[in-house]
Amino acid sequence: MKMKFFRCRICGDPFMAEEMPSHCPFCGAHQEHIATAAEWVDENAALDGLSETSRRNLVEALQLEVDNKAFYLDASSKAGTIELAGIFKNLSKIEGEHASTFRKILRTDAPDPDPEKSVAADDDRRNLETARAREEYASAFYARAADEAGEERVKKVFGAISAIESDHIELETELLDRR
Ligand SMILES: [Fe+2]
Ligand SMILES: [Fe+2]
Repeated sequence: MKMKFFRCRICGDPFMAEEMPSHCPFCGAHQEHIATAAEWVDENAALDGLSETSRRNLVEALQLEVDNKAFYLDASSKAGTIELAGIFKNLSKIEGEHASTFRKILRTDAPDPDPEKSVAADDDRRNLETARAREEYASAFYARAADEAGEERVKKVFGAISAIESDHIELETELLDRR
């Protein structure tokens, strides 16, 4: 087995795999955003300042991801099955990657999660419904933020993360249908 090095153009994280994966294992970006480690370049470095609109959207997006990361982690700890605990934990990690992706573009630290948005219910179904509503909000908001962005890099990142949140809507819909 020969491992190759890859690197995600959205979250910027490198990883090893035998073959090009369908999604980034960290942020969930689709394959079109994965480069070999040799061809990867730091697209954030070329970003020279942000428009007011992009900055505002990125700050809101960062807070949203920080809150959703905390929510999913709490939902994981309260999950009624091992499978769902694992799924919520994975989603928490992915939201954490999205937060750090936005944070790197803003060149800022992560804010604290909003305590009111960080607590999950003691009910898996309700948590899946809350999660899906949050993903729907995020996906639509990021699609709009991508349209509004004048910077190519910001447009690309919002577009990619909007698509990832759409994958989560699909996943959560499937999980809700199974219940
Ligand atoms: Fe990634
Ligand atoms: Fe996210």
